Amino acid sequence: MAAGRSASFTMSRRQFVVSSLVVAFAAAFADACGSTHAPAPALEPVATPDEIEMSLTINGTKRTVRADARLTLLDALRERLSLPGTKKGCDQGQCGACTVLVDGRRVNACLTLAVMVQDVPIITIEGLSKDGSQHPLQAAFIAEDGFQCGYCTSGQIISAVGLRRECRARKMSDAPLADDELREGMSGNLCRCGAYPNIRAAINRAWKET
Ligand code: FES
Ligand code: FES
Repeated sequence: MAAGRSASFTMSRRQFVVSSLVVAFAAAFADACGSTHAPAPALEPVATPDEIEMSLTINGTKRTVRADARLTLLDALRERLSLPGTKKGCDQGQCGACTVLVDGRRVNACLTLAVMVQDVPIITIEGLSKDGSQHPLQAAFIAEDGFQCGYCTSGQIISAVGLRRECRARKMSDAPLADDELREGMSGNLCRCGAYPNIRAAINRAWKET
């Protein structure tokens, strides 16, 4: 038994020595291989687009904005040009609170890049009144209580102006639209207060003067 244990111990030592040599060789080989590789290049910082200068024509006035090309028209109006009348509701094209007229057409300013509408006439709620007088639709919204919290109101009014222009362009009669046509025409503008009956009454009230 003692001889067996001794033989077994001898084998284990031999195995241990061999194993150690193998490991040491492998480590040395790995180091040698590693030294032939160039060190990983340092990561370059992600480049952000340079700011560009944009020329916007807002309510008949030329304005210049220097900003990232990804700036939306809505953020340009509210945060760069001090025109907060255009509201940010959903910021993803669902509520219509940000409606403005671009070249006479209704657009969601939150889905429009400012750089895309350079030198095109843009009308916001601030541009509707003339010489200190309310636009007929603004007066009608007040007369008909066409709002509650008012957050959607500027978008509703601009959208109604755009709808009226669309009807004129199609040479439709000056008579107010049928209720279902008006609902359809204003369907891009949501009112979370549910002031829809008064909103439609206001639009009908001012329809001919608009
Ligand atoms: S904020 Fe633009 S559609 Fe809602
Ligand atoms: S009046 Fe409040 S969202 Fe329309």
